[in-house]
Amino acid sequence: DTVFVLNGPNLNLLGTREPEIYGSDTLADIEASLVEQARGLGLAVDFRQTNHEGVLVDWLHEARASGAKAVLLNAGAYTHTSIALLDAIRAIGVPVIEVHLSDPARREAFRHVSYVGMAAVDEVKGLGARSYAVALDKAAAL
Ligand code: DQA
Repeated sequence: DTVFVLNGPNLNLLGTREPEIYGSDTLADIEASLVEQARGLGLAVDFRQTNHEGVLVDWLHEARASGAKAVLLNAGAYTHTSIALLDAIRAIGVPVIEVHLSDPARREAFRHVSYVGMAAVDEVKGLGARSYAVALDKAAAL
């Protein structure tokens, strides 16, 4: 089984981007450790990043078309703005787990709304890079 791990805008800058908030791991570090963890769980991960909202929509559709077991989605700031992502998650019938490095609920008010969360089956946030690891364990258990 394959789990899609989809990352949105600015997450390509992890490692140097506001490390006091997001930590010092790069996205490549997170990918490497998830690939390793997935192997132990008997899963494959398809790990991607884009800065473009519509590309995330396309990839969610692809998750359905390819029969993915689940999607881990860190949509970055689109989490808080994108009705298109909400609709896509509702449309695909593949379980989506919302992931964040930081805890948006403890940050600015504009991060307190999550359109992704309105359709996701679960969420993991505030654990830094470990949020992805915990979310992958949850996906494996689905
Ligand atoms: C984030 C939280 C979002 O509010 C922010 O826009 C991001 C990263 C996180 O992983 O903590 O880009 O999704």
